[in-house]
Amino acid sequence: MKGLILSGGKGTRLRPITHTSAKQLVPVANKPVLFFGIEAMAQAGISEVGIIIAPETGGEIREACGDGSQFGVQITYIEQDAPLGLAHAVLTAEPFLGDSPFVMYLGDNLLQGGITELVTAFEANQPDALILLTEVDDPQSYGIAALNEQGQVVRLVEKPKDPPSNLALVGVYLFTPLIHEAARAIQPSARGELEITDAIQWLVDTGRRVEPHVVRGWWKDTGRLADMLEANRLILDVIEPSVQGELIDSSVEGRVIVEPGATLTNTTVRGPAVIAAGAKVTDSYIGPYSAVGRDCVITNSEVEHSILLAGSKVLHLDGRMESSLLGRNSTIDRTPQQPRAYRFMIGDNSHVGIL
Ligand code: G1P
Repeated sequence: MKGLILSGGKGTRLRPITHTSAKQLVPVANKPVLFFGIEAMAQAGISEVGIIIAPETGGEIREACGDGSQFGVQITYIEQDAPLGLAHAVLTAEPFLGDSPFVMYLGDNLLQGGITELVTAFEANQPDALILLTEVDDPQSYGIAALNEQGQVVRLVEKPKDPPSNLALVGVYLFTPLIHEAARAIQPSARGELEITDAIQWLVDTGRRVEPHVVRGWWKDTGRLADMLEANRLILDVIEPSVQGELIDSSVEGRVIVEPGATLTNTTVRGPAVIAAGAKVTDSYIGPYSAVGRDCVITNSEVEHSILLAGSKVLHLDGRMESSLLGRNSTIDRTPQQPRAYRFMIGDNSHVGIL
């Protein structure tokens, strides 16, 4: 069994963060989303992992994941020239996959509990494909599956205007090499992509066995800010507390990680929260569901339910900052300059909310 992680794409829904960084490297609880997928593969005993990368962000992904030894796997990078669909990604990876069955995992997805059970079920039942489904409130935004009364997959449709069910395809799939034939047999969709959903429909139409599994735990596609913040909450809720940084006149309550090399001075942290190495938090309050990245500086401010990427600064804020995502090395500060006014320098497609 091999692994295929898709880590290309443009990440349009997370701009401006994704103007300068791959969406799969945006951290959840201070760990890049992509790492959760690689770790799930390693836990399931998959040692050969291919990662599909885009020309624009591939370098950064290679740098972050290296040869895979940090995860106990061997990584092969596969460049996909253009985001022409998930089935196109499978075809691009064919030389790497060969005639091996494989798990395909979308690199911006998070699945509670990993994939070990699924790999075991796939190997035991030997279907032609195994798909994961979960109920969603907005079926128009996903690939949707319709099941018959026996629970068999009868129809799959990508982003339907008139959804046949509310069972969405989760971004984790298990395939036999038959999927290459399926991907070659289909035509691009209206959005110009070779859809994996259509390739799976081809398996159904040609009488192959597509086994559905409804996921029991949570699943998140971290494509938008609200999803990132929710994924951050879900992961922070289960972190192992460990306070190893330096605390000076400070207190830490609840589920909190303070990494070695972080310094808290005259500060209260109320978990779940994580403060990375090199961060300096002074005269401040860090509230639940905050993830403070490496070398961040927070001074005389209150931060809650937010993700701060490495090197960002929050200084002397009057009000509490919440539900925010700060990009790398960004600063929110107060200036003594008159007249008293807001002064911004923000990137393209940014959003600042002020009451
Ligand atoms: C892709 C798939 C879709 C699936 C979704 C899960 O959508 O095409 O079937 O439900 O991932 O995240 P996309 O992220 O390309 O819009």
